[in-house]
Amino acid sequence: MANSQADAASRNWVAVVLAAGRGSRMGTSLPKVLHAVGGVSIIRRVLDSLSGAALSDVSIVRDDSGALPEALGLIYPYVVQSSPNGTGGALAAYLNESAPSTGHLLVINADLPLITSDFLTRLKDSHGFRPDVAVTFFTMQTSNDTNYGRILRFKDGNVAEIVEAGDPRHADAPAEGNAGVYALDLEWARSAMDRLPQHEDGEYYITDLVKLAVADGRGVETVSIDAEEAIGVNTLVDLAEAERAARRRTLEEFMLSGVTIVDPSSTYIDSTVTIAANTVIRPNTHITGASVIGAGCEIGPDTHIVESVIGERCVVRGSWLDEVTLEDGVSVGPFARLRPGTHIGREAHIGSFGEIKASRIGSRTAMGHFGYVGDADVGDDVNIGAGAVTCNYDGQEKHRTVVGDGAFIGSGSLLVAPVDVGGKAYTAAGAVVTRNVAAGTTVAGVPAEYISR
Ligand code: UD1
Ligand code: CA
Repeated sequence: MANSQADAASRNWVAVVLAAGRGSRMGTSLPKVLHAVGGVSIIRRVLDSLSGAALSDVSIVRDDSGALPEALGLIYPYVVQSSPNGTGGALAAYLNESAPSTGHLLVINADLPLITSDFLTRLKDSHGFRPDVAVTFFTMQTSNDTNYGRILRFKDGNVAEIVEAGDPRHADAPAEGNAGVYALDLEWARSAMDRLPQHEDGEYYITDLVKLAVADGRGVETVSIDAEEAIGVNTLVDLAEAERAARRRTLEEFMLSGVTIVDPSSTYIDSTVTIAANTVIRPNTHITGASVIGAGCEIGPDTHIVESVIGERCVVRGSWLDEVTLEDGVSVGPFARLRPGTHIGREAHIGSFGEIKASRIGSRTAMGHFGYVGDADVGDDVNIGAGAVTCNYDGQEKHRTVVGDGAFIGSGSLLVAPVDVGGKAYTAAGAVVTRNVAAGTTVAGVPAEYISR
């Protein structure tokens, strides 16, 4: 390798994410790049891919609304593009405010949720070894009905320019689309910005840098990218397409790592979820957020799991779990609803039509049938009969219920909190327990009185 090339390759890279557009084609009040794909915002996905491609000096061009710093935090340098005068205007705002003057710049549209680090690395590698090249960018095969910028080439195959949808030449242009990711020679880009033409819509287009580079006799190169990976989200229709593609990618990764997905077409799992091998996911199941599922579980059918931690060998059927922890060997459902703050101990069983929230349920405890447990600490080896209810709310405040190890809560018992039921105590069917029950005793009636102690 010639020395000058080695120098070029080792010159520093910086990156800028263009995220200041209004996103008005979305028709939503949530800014476009904060919509989620696979459970992660579009711009967060872009930032993750940049960091995976060893791009650490990353700035973000934003509008003046403050929505992005609020969502992403202040760890990134932000440049405000005060008027939305196009992608060229966004780049100009960045160059005027903060970029170094030499080296390589990777510019990426913020609305590309499926771009991977691998592809960004390829773009960097391709650009970095060619000091004569001023612009290297991704292109993909596209169909004729899309609005992506199109690549016009000279007869010899070299790139001539990118034409946008408003340009009359767009309709007949070859179906080679511009993905919206560019590697630029910074020094040259600075020298060219003043020459970007203003279009009829008042905007400056970053894509016009291509024909300026050609005019300057500088090299322009392309790297081809998979069309799916290059999906740019402009509308909610695009968002749904990106979601579909991201979902397929995630499910395939799980399947290739030993997780059985019985019916991928009805299974929805965020890219943020972790599932161990030898677990089976049955149809119509949704798993979201930072959920973690251990090995050897059977999840679904018809199950929602949100932000939950599931141990090994658990069975969850037809149930809804939200911010829940299940230790190993727990079985749940069908038709259980476990709400935030529920922690279920090893080998416990929660059957049909039970609802639990903000409670610890001990190991091997069984609540086989309908009932409600809220704000409770239930020990190990407890039996909770059908229709038992913790009456945790007095109309003003929530109160806790404590049930000791080995207790037996009879069917239809109402535990009026705050109340303690001691270890190995019994509450008879239909008992309304308004006072603490000593360990090893039995209470019955309304209100419950001791019948053995
Ligand atoms: C752009 C490209 C098009 C390419 C497509 C790929 C231009 C002129 N066209 O079109 O060739 O095929 O991306 O998806 O660049 N933004 C700003 N400030 C602005 C306008 C936009 O920061 O004033 C940001 C947006 O937030 C967005 C990105 O730039 O993340 C691209 O803008 P967008 O309006 O989506 O461009 P496209 O029409 O998709
Ligand atoms: Ca776009």
